[in-house]
Parts: sequence; structure tokens; C-alpha cells
Amino acid sequence: QKGNAKISMAVIRRLPKYRRYLAELLDRGVHRISSRELSKIIGFTASQIRQDLNNFGGFGQQGYGYNVAALYEAIGKILGLDRKYNTIIVGAGNLGQAIANYTNFEKSGFIPKAMFDINPKLIGLKIRDIEIIDADKMEEYIKENNVDIGIICTNKEQAQAVADRLVKSNIKGIWNFAPTDLDVPEKVMLENVHLSESLYTLSFLLKHNRID
Ligand code: NAI
Repeated sequence: QKGNAKISMAVIRRLPKYRRYLAELLDRGVHRISSRELSKIIGFTASQIRQDLNNFGGFGQQGYGYNVAALYEAIGKILGLDRKYNTIIVGAGNLGQAIANYTNFEKSGFIPKAMFDINPKLIGLKIRDIEIIDADKMEEYIKENNVDIGIICTNKEQAQAVADRLVKSNIKGIWNFAPTDLDVPEKVMLENVHLSESLYTLSFLLKHNRID
């Protein structure tokens, strides 16, 4: 397997989709698939698929196609899904609680350790078995519990201050749901989920009746 250093972000962003389709194939008992067949179900061109998967070398064979299980596993490894991550949710409102209630992230190795909030009415409550702790105790908790990822679900006015505190506590990654662009040092990995941007894109498609 080649090193991953030069793989472009565009390829990396396609990997979860490959993995999702491969999981479906595995569920259906499909053990091997050609890039042409994969192209039909996934919607990328066969040459795009070959090019993407060539980055990791050795999974496709002329006349055989891809070994679905091997490719699924390899992509999981490349994505770092072969390990566990300790996570905390900061902001235990509607969205924070919804994420805490969603058990699938846990199945993929993202372990929700605790939630933090400043609202005294929420502190002490549990979502499933995940406790909502006073945000004042966040730094201490991160250090003591080897937290890897902070999930920001506060209102946007508070998000940067929360990010600064996570950074100071040596968090490795931030998954930000607040609709604001955060400023974090390069050593901290940041991924934003701006649901409203996706929704407004849908609005555009509806308005202009675009089907491509
Ligand atoms: P919410 O108001 O229900 O929850 C926000 C929570 O953050 C509150 O419980 C508040 O006490 C807490 N909080 C505020 N400052 C804090 C701090 N410094 N430390 C810890 N906790 C703090 O809001 P909701 O609906 O859950 O939204 C959360 C964020 O996600 C917002 O930025 C919102 O724009 C964004 N968002 C929400 C969506 C939704 O469907 N609810 C969808 C997309 C984005």
C-alpha cells in the first residue's frame, strides 16, 4: 500500500461513499465487483473509480474486479475507522442531544464519553448513559479521559470560545455544527457540518428545477 500523504482531499471525501456502497454490497452477499458495475450503482465514472482506488494500490485485478470485503476493510483503515475515538459533545441542546442519541457513530468507533453545557437545568441529566457535565469542568475532563474529538453544538456566538478551550486542552479534532467558520491552529483537524448550507442548496435546486 502506498503512503497516504499525497491523496487529494477530493479523493478522501469520496472514500466514505465508496465504503457505504461496499457495505451494502457485502450485506447483499456480493463478493466481487468490477469498476463498471460499481460505477452504475455509485454514480462516479468507472475511470474515476479506478483512478481513486489506484491511490491505494492492489485491490483491482483485470478481469476480476474488486474484492468487496478487502476493499471495504482497506478503505476503513485509510479512513482511520480501525480504531476508537473518545468524543465529547459541547452544547447539550436539541442538536447535541440528537447526536448523543444516535448510536451509529458509536458503532463506527466514535465513543461519546460526556456532554457539556452551561445551562444548570441540563447539568446532571443523562442522554442514554451520557452525562451532561458543567462546561466549567471541560478542560479537566478532556485531560483525564483522553478525549480525541470535540463536537461543537453550541449556538454560533459561543462556538469560537468553545473551540479555543478545546484547542488549549490539546483536542485533536473538532466536528463543528455551529454555523460559523472557526479559527483553529493547523495541528487541530477541523471538519464543519453546516446543515443549512445543504438545505439552501436544496432550495436552489427546487427553485431552478435542476435534476443533474
Ligand atoms: P440549542 O439552543 O438547543 O442548544 C445549544 C446549547 O448550547 C444550549 O443548551 C446552551 O446552553 C449550550 N451552550 C451555549 N454556550 C455554551 C458553552 N459555552 N459551553 C457549553 N454549552 C453551551 O441549539 P440547537 O438547536 O441544538 O443548535 C445548536 C447549534 O447547532 C447552533 O449553532 C445551531 O445553529 C446549529 N444547528 C442546529 C440545527 C438543529 O436542527 N437544531 C441544525 C443545524 C445547525
